Amino acid sequence: MRIRKKKWTKKWWEGNNSLLLENSSIINDIILIKNKRLNLEIGCGKGDFIINKSVNEKDNIFIGLEKDPTILAVAMRKFKEKINPVNNNLYFSNILAQNISEYFPKEKFKKIFLNFSDPWPKKHQAKRRLTHISFLKIYYNLLVNGGTIEFKTDNDNLFLFTIEQVKLFENFLITYKTSDLYSDTFEIVNNVQTEYETKFLEKNVKIKKMVLQKL
Ligand SMILES: C[S@@+](CC[C@H](N)C(=O)[O-])C[C@H]1O[C@@H](n2cnc3c(N)ncnc32)[C@H](O)[C@@H]1O
Repeated sequence: MRIRKKKWTKKWWEGNNSLLLENSSIINDIILIKNKRLNLEIGCGKGDFIINKSVNEKDNIFIGLEKDPTILAVAMRKFKEKINPVNNNLYFSNILAQNISEYFPKEKFKKIFLNFSDPWPKKHQAKRRLTHISFLKIYYNLLVNGGTIEFKTDNDNLFLFTIEQVKLFENFLITYKTSDLYSDTFEIVNNVQTEYETKFLEKNVKIKKMVLQKL
């Protein structure tokens, strides 16, 4: 995701560091008390998806994880402006997907969302793709039994690559798969759009979606 360095973000972080889950004393409360209602988006970008999900599903707890602090500041500012933090069910995390098992305990997440993850198109970059088997193993350990990964992409190659990786790993079942999400009138009813999804739809790119269930 390209983003111009916004001058306000550096200063903004000074006053808002406590909004991060990893800096917060509530991480254990959230994970223990609200066990099994936890949902995580990896690479949440500027936050449209995770903010709207948290508003639509007040009984669930959401975490938006984003590696880029500038992009995350945009998401968090949007959230602060829009949401009443008293009844909050959305938290943020500024860590790398590669490190999530160090921060979050095993078998607590109901859903993991991967929306328009970077495709890393070159062959030698395959290990960086967020659906590479090494990541699938990490997600598997975080999910509760029967928990799911919901993956959306514009990218045909990443979609095919993900199917191969799931076959290789053998511990997820593909319970839903479409190469044209918007032609599925049933599935689209509860779909929440991301920033990238909106952009691709404007260019008439077909959105692919897959749901993987932990076996
Ligand atoms: C293409 S953008 C998609 C953003 C958003 N999910 C959407 O659909 O609009 C991918 C996002 O994932 C983040 N990202 C990429 N690799 C990551 C990683 N290893 N850990 C955490 N975030 C990552 C990027 O910084 C970027 O904001």
